[in-house]
Amino acid sequence: MATQALHVCARCGFESRRWHGRCPGCGSWNTLVEQRVPERRPSGGASSGAQPVVPRRLADIEADVDRRLATGIAELDRVLGGGFVPGSLVLLGGEPGIGKSTLTTMAAAALTAEGERVLYVSGEESAGQVRLRAERIGSGALQIPVICETDVAAICATLERERPVLCVVDSVQVLRDPVLTSAPGSVAQVRETAARLLEVAKRRRVCVLLVGHVTKDGAIAGPRTLEHLVDCVLAFEGERERGLRVLRAFKNRFGASGEAGLFELADEGLVEVVDASARLVAGGTPPPGSVVLSALEGSRPLLCEVQALVVPSETVPPRRVTAGIDRNRLALVLAVLQRYAGLRIGNSDVFVSIAGGLRVDEPGADLAVALAVVSAVRGVPLGDAGRRVVAFGEVGLGGELRAVARPERRLAEAERFGLGPVVAPGAELRYLRAALVRAFAVVGQRQGSGGSAA
Ligand code: TYD
Ligand code: MG
Repeated sequence: MATQALHVCARCGFESRRWHGRCPGCGSWNTLVEQRVPERRPSGGASSGAQPVVPRRLADIEADVDRRLATGIAELDRVLGGGFVPGSLVLLGGEPGIGKSTLTTMAAAALTAEGERVLYVSGEESAGQVRLRAERIGSGALQIPVICETDVAAICATLERERPVLCVVDSVQVLRDPVLTSAPGSVAQVRETAARLLEVAKRRRVCVLLVGHVTKDGAIAGPRTLEHLVDCVLAFEGERERGLRVLRAFKNRFGASGEAGLFELADEGLVEVVDASARLVAGGTPPPGSVVLSALEGSRPLLCEVQALVVPSETVPPRRVTAGIDRNRLALVLAVLQRYAGLRIGNSDVFVSIAGGLRVDEPGADLAVALAVVSAVRGVPLGDAGRRVVAFGEVGLGGELRAVARPERRLAEAERFGLGPVVAPGAELRYLRAALVRAFAVVGQRQGSGGSAA
């Protein structure tokens, strides 16, 4: 097939026939890479020679049987919407060392144990290295058929012959299509090799699980450009130094997106975390600046601890540092606190973090962040050994509280752990100021201090 050159921006995906030093799409320098694409035939009405296709009514079409390849790893199956779907392409992204190979090996081992045909394609590690990992995970993992290959044509040919139901490709960044001149990991290679795997996946009803590395700032654009191509995008997150890992579905054509699963990296692989709330909230009297947030991970409630520290600043502008929450959300909450609760922190450094290395990505964390900051500023703990303020709710720019998803589940989770009172938006609690008064009144009565906002 004849090919022609196309230049694609690694950052934004902009395409051009000509090479540019600076991408006309996003303005980045030196991001255009060459990609060879098959020559397209000129399109046009009858002259193109294509035959028209007869449409059919949906009612006359048999629905696809929803066969699922359940791994039995409950946290993974739930995030997938019940298991892998044959003929689908799943992208699992995550930073190096987070545990992607471990998770995919465990999934492959589980399906192999159930008698399903599986293929593990390792492009990064030698078969011996893959075996070492499998040994740690368990003897079942040693039954996984493995090939070490990076040439996408060879992988596709193997798929055609072996006909597995699940094929793990670790990782998409090392795959290469020898027709292309660009290096493995470039946008051109990543896109082209994934497209070729997709074609085989659909035709042979194989579920292809692509592993992709993503750096902290998402700098490697490779996997990003695949997001529209694949059926399901999973992200594996957590702090490398700590054990807790969260698997999230950002996109899922066969289930709810936003679903999350929790794991812990142990010596013998990843262990499912059944009750994360129990682990994330410390008992006893909380220090000032600490508030329990009843968050939502996917469809499940999860209690975690928001901690704030406010200290005089020695820099201009003062520092605003977050771990586990969005920095812009903190800026918004601080601005509302300054404007509507009279909080003066213009000369203070503010640090806010979610204990345990968890990341909470919902506006429902706002109220807990606000309470934690005020508690830190005042040096007054929000609770004691017997009670613990729990909060959730979004804070609006007008100082109002906004309802968030699934309040009943969040309340039930707090109750399950005997925590409370819960401060949350409702008919009788509509403003941040009132919420502050309510939260501090709880401890204020016991300690005899006043309950003013800030
Ligand atoms: P790995 O799955 O190779 O990460 P990735 O494929 O995302 O780069 O494993 C990451 C880390 O996990 C590695 O430092 C070793 C550690 N590990 C365990 O703690 N327990 C285990 O059972 C395994 C297999 C790995
Ligand atoms: Mg790996």
